Amino acid sequence: MQNKVRKAVFPVGGLGTRFLPATKAMPKEMLPVVDKPLIQYAVDEAREAGIEEFIFVTGRGKVLIEDHFDRSYELEQVLIERGKDAVLEKLTESLPSTGAVAYTRQREPLGLGHAVWCAKRFVGDEPFAVILADDLILSDTPALKQMIDARDNLGGGNILAAMEVPKEQTSRYGILSPGYDDGKTVEITNLVEKPDPSVAPSNLAVIGRYILEPTVFDLLENQARGAGNEIQLTDALSKLLENRPFYGLRFDGTRFDCGDKIGFLHANLAFALARDDIGADFKEIVKQVSETL
Ligand code: G1P
Repeated sequence: MQNKVRKAVFPVGGLGTRFLPATKAMPKEMLPVVDKPLIQYAVDEAREAGIEEFIFVTGRGKVLIEDHFDRSYELEQVLIERGKDAVLEKLTESLPSTGAVAYTRQREPLGLGHAVWCAKRFVGDEPFAVILADDLILSDTPALKQMIDARDNLGGGNILAAMEVPKEQTSRYGILSPGYDDGKTVEITNLVEKPDPSVAPSNLAVIGRYILEPTVFDLLENQARGAGNEIQLTDALSKLLENRPFYGLRFDGTRFDCGDKIGFLHANLAFALARDDIGADFKEIVKQVSETL
């Protein structure tokens, strides 16, 4: 079996009801943080981690995502005429190679586990990454790259991004039971989707980055519905870890929950402040605004 992680799956079928009316006609993954859509942050992160093939599991109303990762001849022509070569170069650079992108539709909103299963034929028999674009991570080294490096050191296996969350928030996340823990990498002995704080096995949450072995597809195929009456990835993973090594990595970086309004606004603030071109000016504005509070 091919052991290098070459493919990434991007489940982008979700409706984004929390951002209505912005997401009525526009996919939530196209919401920009500063000037780049969430989905492009996810694809850039994957490319920087060495991913070569990009599989989008889409749904109705998501064609803008396909347009975004395609060339736009009229726009290119206008940029050339206006001498905006740097902008054009940046746009062209950000495109994955022709033939390296695949789109498949999840026809019914049956949950994250089902969305990942929809990518089965495209992934084939090799390990793959899953990136949830809602979870935006600001870091020096891309989070997925940190995970691929950690997996190389561990000699393979399944690995997911993990982060401590306030105990009262466990019902928003997949929560893991820690085994051997060196403070950075933690062996996972069990996983449960969105447990009530009273029964959560820890406050270590799964964040939307996974590197999985293809055996997960067989488990997803027969996976019964779980939390929220959806086919949960976490439930299939909890079976996978019965006989395969499974780890969580506390990545270096700050994660923003861009599936939530406050998290999304926080991300815009943090990413704008971190920018070389606008960071300093924006900081002044933030200062002025906070003085009026
Ligand atoms: C999904 C996963 C959950 C994970 C979370 C991270 O939940 O099912 O295990 O902790 O992403 O953001 P969702 O946010 O799609 O409800």
